[in-house]
Amino acid sequence: MTQAVTTPLPLSTYLKEQTASTHESLDRRIMALAPFSSRERFACFLRMQLRLHHATAPLYQNPALQTLLPGLADRSRLQAIILDCADFNITAEQQEADRRVGSAAQDAGTLGAIGWLYTHEGSTLGAAFLLKHAREQLGLSETFGARHLVGHSDGRGLHWRQFKQALDALTLSPAERDHAVVGARDAFAFVRASVEELMAGKQPAAAS
Ligand code: HEM
Repeated sequence: MTQAVTTPLPLSTYLKEQTASTHESLDRRIMALAPFSSRERFACFLRMQLRLHHATAPLYQNPALQTLLPGLADRSRLQAIILDCADFNITAEQQEADRRVGSAAQDAGTLGAIGWLYTHEGSTLGAAFLLKHAREQLGLSETFGARHLVGHSDGRGLHWRQFKQALDALTLSPAERDHAVVGARDAFAFVRASVEELMAGKQPAAAS
């Protein structure tokens, strides 16, 4: 009997498919918390972003990941979000607290890290929409408060497609692909927890 051979989905498509509902719920939650309704609310959104950028910062500098994903180091937007936080007078203590939470967030190994990077890099697409709101509703710009939302000079779409091509060129086994999905979902869960704590004012569950 001839066995049907199924070509696996490209990794980027698989990651998108496996996180689509999580993304949708996060996107809705963030917008429901009205980050563009005032500068105070936007500052909470910035701190959430600062945590994510600190969580992924070591990944952008990781030599093994840089080999797998060319141009990775240049994609880091950590300095941009730090400057945005300075524009909003987010205190050194708050920034240090967010750095600590971010730095403790993941130790996922290479495959999990690929998933975290998918989630973070993908967020640059939605950032186009967020930047528009930040400009129109709060008067922010690429030189004040919204630097980290600005697209790459090559073009946001092209920059993202190049990242997806690098993901899709990786040869991973089904188990390895699923490991990357766990990383991508963990990154979304980390962002969601940061949204609840910083933007909705809910305290994290007490450590047991
Ligand atoms: C209110 C907040 C958000 C909105 C409105 C939003 C909106 C969007 C939109 C419209 C796209 C698709 C763009 C396109 O296909 O051209 C997108 C893609 C994406 N967003 Fe978001 N987003 C938000 C927040 C986030 C956050 C916080 C993360 C994770 C840190 C995230 C992760 C992603 C990923 C991974 C993709 C790429 C999906 C793919 O094509 O593989 N988004 N977002």
